[in-house]
Amino acid sequence: MQDLKQRSALVTGASAGIGRAIATRLSQAGAHVVLAARRKERLEALQAELPGSEVMQLDVRDRKGVEAALSGRKFDIAVLNAGMARGVAAIQDGKLEDWDEMLDTNVRGLLAVLRTVLPGMLERESGDLLLLGSVAGRQVYPGGNIYCATKHAVRAIYEALRLDAGGKGVRFTTIDPGIVETEFSEVRFSGDREAAAAVYSDLRSLQPGDVADAALFALTRPAHVNIGEIVLWPTDQGSTRDVHRGRA
Ligand SMILES: NC(=O)c1ccc[n+]([C@@H]2O[C@H](COP(=O)([O-])OP(=O)(O)OC[C@H]3O[C@@H](n4cnc5c(N)ncnc54)[C@H](OP(=O)(O)O)[C@@H]3O)[C@@H](O)[C@H]2O)c1
Repeated sequence: MQDLKQRSALVTGASAGIGRAIATRLSQAGAHVVLAARRKERLEALQAELPGSEVMQLDVRDRKGVEAALSGRKFDIAVLNAGMARGVAAIQDGKLEDWDEMLDTNVRGLLAVLRTVLPGMLERESGDLLLLGSVAGRQVYPGGNIYCATKHAVRAIYEALRLDAGGKGVRFTTIDPGIVETEFSEVRFSGDREAAAAVYSDLRSLQPGDVADAALFALTRPAHVNIGEIVLWPTDQGSTRDVHRGRA
């Protein structure tokens, strides 16, 4: 098993949900964690709970800001988790600004961070790049259209990393969860709490800690073992379209 003590870890989207849970586990395992997201006050509250962690206010869509904040920094672990969905409109009714927001965050934003941190890992011939994909990167569902397209892109990026940057000591992992109970749906429904709550209602959803467990498992394997793809479903979710409620 690899020891995470003293390892430096960047977690994007650390202010909520899955990123917050992964950052917490990494810190508890002894890593020096850089907590990155836009909402500084949330990050500062988390930092107070995680000794040795650092706050980095960052909008992954701001390419220059990403370069300024990250270039020259050394990370042993980078968790590219910041992401979001906006709306569930059918593709013929979708709003271009919603599509831009998802593409800019989930694809361009992820790439901006990746492009900044990967060269250093390759030079040092060690590091872990962990991407937050989704089962939406494997199956499209009605109303998921462009969000699913962004997560299919993340999956393609993961495969490209293995081909282009493989064999140089750096490990690449994508974690693709089904429904996880976070603020994700509140963001997707633009603050409509009732619509968001309905997604998780009467369902034994995954919790952010379940995804963090999977991340920690991958990150603590011996250096010659690369856990590549982790698909994590709630037991009561059969596919992106088949959700079995009533067992909660
Ligand atoms: N929840 C699910 O069911 C589910 C399932 C599969 C995959 N995922 C993926 O898991 C990842 C985390 O989602 P979550 O469920 O934890 O959602 P969440 O609770 O809404 O958290 C999203 C995180 O991303 C950050 N973020 C969003 N836009 C950002 C930007 N432009 N720059 C920097 N940070 C940004 C948010 O921080 P700020 O708002 O403070 O910037 C927040 O910390 C996403 O990539 C999502 O697609 C979620």
